[in-house]
Amino acid sequence: MNNCKMSSSSKIRKRDLSEIEWPRFDLSKIQWSRMPKLRIGDSVAKLPIVQGGMGVGISLSGLASAVANEGGIGVIAANAIGMLDPDYYASHKDANAIALRKEVRKAKEMSSGIIGVNIMVAVNDFYALLMVAIEEKVDIVFLGAGLPLKGIPVEALRTAGVKVVPIVSSARAAGLIFRSWLKKYEDVPDAVVVEGPKAGGHLGFKEDQIDDPDFALERILPEVVAVVKGYEKKFRRTIPVIAAGGVFTGTDIYKFFKLGASGVQMGTRFVATHECDANIRFKESYVACSEDDIEIIKSPVGMPGRAIRNGFLTDISSGKKMKLKCAWKCLKSCDIKTARYCISLALDNARKGNLKKGFVFAGSNAFRINTIISVKELLQELQEQYLCAREKGAGRLRSEYEKALEKLRSLKEEYLTTLKNGVNSLKNQCERDIEKGVITFREEYLTVLDKINSLKSEYLKAVDNADFLKNELARLFEQYSLLNRLQT
Ligand SMILES: Cc1cc2nc3c(=O)[nH]c(=O)nc-3n(C[C@H](O)[C@H](O)[C@H](O)COP(=O)(O)O)c2cc1C
Repeated sequence: MNNCKMSSSSKIRKRDLSEIEWPRFDLSKIQWSRMPKLRIGDSVAKLPIVQGGMGVGISLSGLASAVANEGGIGVIAANAIGMLDPDYYASHKDANAIALRKEVRKAKEMSSGIIGVNIMVAVNDFYALLMVAIEEKVDIVFLGAGLPLKGIPVEALRTAGVKVVPIVSSARAAGLIFRSWLKKYEDVPDAVVVEGPKAGGHLGFKEDQIDDPDFALERILPEVVAVVKGYEKKFRRTIPVIAAGGVFTGTDIYKFFKLGASGVQMGTRFVATHECDANIRFKESYVACSEDDIEIIKSPVGMPGRAIRNGFLTDISSGKKMKLKCAWKCLKSCDIKTARYCISLALDNARKGNLKKGFVFAGSNAFRINTIISVKELLQELQEQYLCAREKGAGRLRSEYEKALEKLRSLKEEYLTTLKNGVNSLKNQCERDIEKGVITFREEYLTVLDKINSLKSEYLKAVDNADFLKNELARLFEQYSLLNRLQT
């Protein structure tokens, strides 16, 4: 055996520096002036920000139209909306449908932007509320607190041009909905909201999952994106995934976009706006609360919820049962015999500012709110932070890319020098040795050969890394030229 033969695998052939094109990527060519739009079916929002539906009565026509007017998606929460009507206890669930219709019409009068309705699958008048949304031809329905699997009037929704967006807390739930829709309706939803455990209101997690990093939004978002990807290919349309729960700043928005989101849904930040439909005392409890005041409660809906601790909640958790007057069994899971209070009534009282007889739902970041601002100011702030984070991110990417190219150059040089100076002369010496029957240079030769092979694999890894960065930058540039074309 001739150990002095250099294997052909020691040569860098295909992925030579000279064979790969490494563009310069001039970041000054990018116009950073806008956030990407959010397209859900034929609805295109100027800003990729959905104001999450917030019941009872926290997001009505006032907040929804203000958000829609600024280019976001404004959402009216439908659950127990009939409580706005003082005769609710007489007219029961009909009051919900009547009040929802009224609020949708009001919002549409106040805005020509995108208006959605949020309906909880867990309510007993889910179907009736969905029919109002269809009849009023709202742009989008967001379906949360349960999985919209059965009895969805898909044909009527399509005919009315109402887009459907389920709210899920796991890739498993997203998969279940998409598979079931495909089978039953030969159709799939238009987008998905994935809500992580930092959200306000009811949470789609078990209590022990809430602080478990395996269930963090950062973890579940890419999993949902992966599930939806397959259906995008099959249906040849984009199905945006919208991240929710704990999104507080424009920097957060940028972070979740990097993880595959095309939009965000935010609740807590919109509560602390002048336009939010709740009483000022509700909003002020956000400004006043500390991190320790925010707690997880067991809700009669059968899911945990996040709220700001107050006397009412302390009484409930210490076993007190409130006087309970049930208008009608509005929640599928609520048992009047065992429930300690009526959650719809408690939330409605809080909406009206009566915090002695109710409590305030809030996201885990509510303690960071220190002032109440306008929707316009909030959206402006979020955009500025997002653009700044994105510009910084692109700058970081570009300098990483430059460093990667520099490393490639020096590795290649080292490789070629070692090859030229070391190995060839050693190989000749070694071959002469073998002819003479001695082995003086063999060990040395093999060591150099090892070094060359390790340089080669390091080089190929560096090529992969530079290639990855190149593709990221190329994607960014493509996105921008597309964006600029779309937006000019
Ligand atoms: C006061 C309040 C009420 C809410 N009510 C509802 C609701 O009725 N239906 C729903 O699907 N989500 C509800 N949510 C969740 C929001 O729509 C949103 O997804 C969530 O708040 C996002 O998390 P963030 O608050 O950290 O931004 C509520 C949230 C809050 C803070």
